[in-house]
Amino acid sequence: MHTHTLLLLLLLKPGVCESCSLVVSPAGLVVKYGAPVSANCTSDTVTSMGWVPSQGESQVFRTGVKELTWRVDSLTDWNIKPQCFEMSEKGGQCARVLNVTVYKLPDRVSIRYLSHSGPVVEGHQYSLHCVVQNTAPIEHLRVTFFKVSTNGEQTVLYTQQLNNDIREPVNESFSLQFSPTSVDDRAQLCCSAMLDLGPQGPQPPPVMESECLNTTVHFAPEFSCSAKLQVREGEGLTCDVRGNPLPSVTWLRDGKMLTPPTHLSREDAGNYTLMALNRIGKANHTMEVEVLHDRAARGVFVCLCLCVCARVIN
Ligand SMILES: *[C@@H]1O[C@H](CO)[C@@H](O)[C@H](O)[C@H]1NC(C)=O
Ligand SMILES: *[C@@H]1O[C@H](CO)[C@@H](O)[C@H](O)[C@H]1NC(C)=O
Ligand SMILES: *[C@@H]1O[C@H](CO)[C@@H](O)[C@H](O)[C@H]1NC(C)=O
Ligand SMILES: *[C@@H]1O[C@H](CO)[C@@H](O)[C@H](O)[C@H]1NC(C)=O
Ligand SMILES: *[C@@H]1O[C@H](CO)[C@@H](O)[C@H](O)[C@H]1NC(C)=O
Ligand SMILES: *[C@@H]1O[C@H](CO)[C@@H](O)[C@H](O)[C@H]1NC(C)=O
Repeated sequence: MHTHTLLLLLLLKPGVCESCSLVVSPAGLVVKYGAPVSANCTSDTVTSMGWVPSQGESQVFRTGVKELTWRVDSLTDWNIKPQCFEMSEKGGQCARVLNVTVYKLPDRVSIRYLSHSGPVVEGHQYSLHCVVQNTAPIEHLRVTFFKVSTNGEQTVLYTQQLNNDIREPVNESFSLQFSPTSVDDRAQLCCSAMLDLGPQGPQPPPVMESECLNTTVHFAPEFSCSAKLQVREGEGLTCDVRGNPLPSVTWLRDGKMLTPPTHLSREDAGNYTLMALNRIGKANHTMEVEVLHDRAARGVFVCLCLCVCARVIN
């Protein structure tokens, strides 16, 4: 039996199937490593057929059949390429290859900076690495770097897929050049790995996420008030300054330092300059402050009152 099969194998020309009636069902298989698997090979006519390589208990070769099943209880060969072959009396010989994709989900997905720890600085560039451990086949793996903002919003930064036909499990590192900006302060950086094996694979495609990196971004002071400010009489003067570390802020008016007035009077109108400084940088912001007199508002109020009073009297 065995030598017979070997002889047949020598005669086989894989992939040549002119007038080959063999049908392998299913045509392709996606199997988790270690899982059981089976496929059928059928022919139009009663014939002599076999499967190579055989594994476990499966029938290697049989004569006088129209169908032969290939069965493996636990598939542990990453490179398996089963073929069903036929030796017909009429002289035809052919083989059909069964596509088998053996997969394994990652043991672990993790994210880290390459040679960096602690806060990052705005405007600098950092290498972020997403390490996926012990997964196969790597060409079906899609790695996504994403950011979770402080308000919970997720943004995809980068998606990568490798072109590598290694079928055994590998450890793979994916990388992203990341240039943080001030809006990334306190955001989280994460990566996920999806094994997308197509319609024959598990649905939905399994996804594994890394733990996230809390990002502290150091950035120079930024002002969020406009260049022209209209403030009511009696109100205070404020301007939001962001920066990390917290910047020190100095107020200037006509070149003189002052503390920002908390109750503006009309004499306080004018041009103010703010100087903010932290160890990342410094910035100036000048604003023209106009102090609104309350008379306009009061005028409307008086009119309203007068009209209402007039009505009541009438
Ligand atoms: C088998 O796999 C090859 C390469 O991945 C592909 O080109 C071919 O279409 C597949 N055949 C079937 C029947 O799935
Ligand atoms: C193979 O054929 C047998 C019997 O004909 C059937 O029970 C089984 O479901 C088939 N298997 C596949 C994978 O098609
Ligand atoms: C992948 O990394 C793990 C942990 O570092 C290690 O134990 C394993 O041998 C590595 N596998 C391969 C295929 O390099
Ligand atoms: C990251 O921040 C979250 C909340 O903002 C916190 O729960 C978590 O412990 C932090 N992780 C690390 C590693 O500091
Ligand atoms: C403030 O600055 C603007 C623009 O430089 C200038 O036109 C204006 O006269 C200044 N106002 C005062 C009160 O100095
Ligand atoms: C900010 O203003 C001060 C005083 O006018 C000046 O000395 C300094 O160079 C300015 N800095 C920047 C960054 O513009």
